[in-house]
Amino acid sequence: MKKLVIAIDGPAASGKSTTARLVAGRLGYLHVDTGAMYRAMTLKILSAGISPDDTGEVGRLAGKTRITISVSGGVTGVFLDGVDVTGKIRSPEVTRAVSQVSSIAAVRELMVSEQRRLASAGGVVLEGRDIGTVVLPDADVKIFLVADETERARRRQKELREKKVDVMLEDLVHEIHERDRKDSSRDLSPLRRAADAVEVDTSGLTVEGQVAKILHIVEGAKEKLGPRQGTDRG
Ligand code: DC
Repeated sequence: MKKLVIAIDGPAASGKSTTARLVAGRLGYLHVDTGAMYRAMTLKILSAGISPDDTGEVGRLAGKTRITISVSGGVTGVFLDGVDVTGKIRSPEVTRAVSQVSSIAAVRELMVSEQRRLASAGGVVLEGRDIGTVVLPDADVKIFLVADETERARRRQKELREKKVDVMLEDLVHEIHERDRKDSSRDLSPLRRAADAVEVDTSGLTVEGQVAKILHIVEGAKEKLGPRQGTDRG
C-alpha cells in the first residue's frame, strides 16, 4: 500500500519544524527536516575553517560529505558523516552562514538526492524551502506555511528564552527578514510557494491548530487518492 509523501515549505520560523514533527508523529511517518541538513553542512564548513563564500572549497568538501536524517533510539536526528549533530546546528554562527552555503549548487545537489532517496518509500513528511517546487514536485500533499514576520520573531524569541538565550525582538525580526530575502532571491531553488500548494497562515493559530489543519488536508488527500492509500510507515 502506498504511503503518502507530504511536503511542507515556508519562510524562516513559520512553524515548519514543530508542525512537521507532530504531523509525522501522528501519522507514523518519518520527519525529514531538510533545513537541518543544510545546517549540518554549514557546521562542517565552519569547523573546517572554510569560508562559506569559497564556492570551490565548499563544493569539494560537500563531495566528501554524507548527511542524512535517521531515527536513533526513537529520536529523529541529523547525521553528519555518521555522527549525530542535531544538538550543534542551531548556533548563531551556523544560522548566519546557512543561507550562503545553501545557495551553492554542489551542496544542493547532494542534499536533494538524499532527500529524494529518503522520500522514495513514502510515509514521509519533508519540510524546507523547495520541497514542493524542486525536490518532490509530485508530492501527494503540498503545504506552504506563512505567518506574520513579527509573530515569527516572537515565537523564535520564546524558543530561545526556553534555552536561556536572550535576543532582542528587533534583532530577530532583522535576522528572519534577511534570511528570507536571501532564500527567496537566490538563483537556485528559491523559496517560493508551489502553484499547487495549500497556503496555511499560522499567525493566529496554536501549534495544535496548525497540526489539526494539516492533518485535515492530509485526510482530504487520502480520500482523493483512494481507500488503499496513506497507511502507516513500516
Ligand atoms: O528551516 P531552517 O531555518 O533550519 O533552514 C536553514 C536554512 O537552510 C534556510 O535559511 C535555507 C536553507 N534551506 C534551503 O535552502 N532549502 C531547504 N529545503 C531547507 C533549508
